[in-house]
Amino acid sequence: MDEIITQPSATPVIQALRSIGYNSQTAVADLVDNSIDAKATKVSIDFSYGDGNGFIKIYDNGNGMNDEELQTAMTIGSKDPRSKRERNELGRFGMGLKTAAFSLGKRLTVISKKDSSVSIRCWDLDHVSKENEWLLYKSIPSDLSISPDEINGDNGTIVLIDKLDRFCGFGTYRVVKPESFFSKIKRIQKYLEMVFHVILEKDILIEINGNKLLPWNPFLEGNPRCYEGEIQYLFSNNKHVVITPYVLPHPSTFNKNEHKDAGGLKGWRDHQGFYVYRENRMVSYGDWFGLFPKDVQSELVRIRIDFSNDSDEEWKLDVKKSSVTIPEEIREGLESIGKYYRQLSQEIMLYRTKASQSGEKVKGSLNTWELYSDDNGTNYIINRNHPVLTNILRDIDKQNKRKINLYLKLLELGSPSNLLKTESIVKKEEHFVNENQRKTIIEYANILSNSGIQMNIDQISESISLMAGFESTEIATIKEILKKEVEASVQF
Ligand SMILES: Nc1ncnc2c1ncn2[C@@H]1O[C@H](COP(=O)(O)OP(=O)(O)OP(=O)(O)O)[C@@H](O)[C@H]1O
Ligand SMILES: [Mg+2]
Repeated sequence: MDEIITQPSATPVIQALRSIGYNSQTAVADLVDNSIDAKATKVSIDFSYGDGNGFIKIYDNGNGMNDEELQTAMTIGSKDPRSKRERNELGRFGMGLKTAAFSLGKRLTVISKKDSSVSIRCWDLDHVSKENEWLLYKSIPSDLSISPDEINGDNGTIVLIDKLDRFCGFGTYRVVKPESFFSKIKRIQKYLEMVFHVILEKDILIEINGNKLLPWNPFLEGNPRCYEGEIQYLFSNNKHVVITPYVLPHPSTFNKNEHKDAGGLKGWRDHQGFYVYRENRMVSYGDWFGLFPKDVQSELVRIRIDFSNDSDEEWKLDVKKSSVTIPEEIREGLESIGKYYRQLSQEIMLYRTKASQSGEKVKGSLNTWELYSDDNGTNYIINRNHPVLTNILRDIDKQNKRKINLYLKLLELGSPSNLLKTESIVKKEEHFVNENQRKTIIEYANILSNSGIQMNIDQISESISLMAGFESTEIATIKEILKKEVEASVQF
């Protein structure tokens, strides 16, 4: 068959590659991936505004590249995406360095040092477009003030992107204002703190303009009120997928700052769902993948999914490392896990129960409240057969049993009518307490004190906050009332 070699034309290819859908956050993350792959222990990212003519510089102390390696690295499609990658390696397509950089600006300069020897390459898209040739410079452009001396030690790499037309409107009529430049940087920082949180928790330091990145853990691990479900394993194409479900505590147990922080980049409601990690790097977050809608009642569920880089094909990982597709094989499994934990979240949101943190696998109904009907109508009562409750009651003496039953009765008394009146849980900004609630708080504290249960003011405030009818009352408000009204007469 007749054939003819047909080289792609440089200008249109480059232009198309600039538009594969990175945003500044995913682009910078893709460049940081490279530093992590190069075993860097420190990555410094500097953003310079320069009245719209600034630069982004990523400097790492990783392995660096020799001349041949850098030449390959700067080639579009430097590695076969099908080839096997090392364990933990974040790269896949042999594209990120170029595509991520070009989505931000028109010039990419890389200086790399390996075993003390320096190599330099620079793509200038204006030059490529003008000549319509893949022309790669081998020296630092004269108008750039960087030098290989900036690399301390024998190994390391500087990736510098300037002519930031996409990132800050360089050379266009719409140069971004300093405020929006710096707020973009803040968002990039938050994004990196999220997608690299596992890696940041280990032994790498990443900083932006001198500020150290702090890991943002979506599962609030370390918070004793957070519930970590049983780890489960699913299989896709005979490869492990690890599922770790988490249910966060009720939002009212946080103070304002903690609440805001736990809401992450997009807020509580949008952060529910699956979090997919590839080699400990988050590639998708807060997504139910069409299995469920996002609703307020389920906003406490965040489910971690881990897969390894030998499953990229099954997960249809994209070049930007910011989206995946759930393999058909595990869809059903994820659906039933999601369903179970969404139910738990709904329970906590409705009844403000705490998820059980006991190591034992909980069996039986997890509903803490049940509907009870008799001739007088339908009411909510506490599920006395809840496995955690029966466990507690089994281990305690008669007197304490009596106290617990007293307490449960109190809860039942306060809850059904309140709950039935509350169509859905609406988060109110105002946290005022009405006269009835004030009385209940005082009465409750007195009962506790008389029954000899040793609880301090914080514990009492917290337990009251878990009662029905106090959905929108802050713990701090309850504590204030207790301090003012009961502290003198009751011994906490
Ligand atoms: N900071 C760096 N330090 C050392 N080597 C690097 C660095 N950045 C890139 N490289 C080398 O350049 C190669 C090409 O990088 P590029 O990001 O384009 O592709 P990749 O990381 O292999 O795959 P992906 O497209 O999935 O990111 C890398 O495989 C790596 O060998
Ligand atoms: Mg890469």
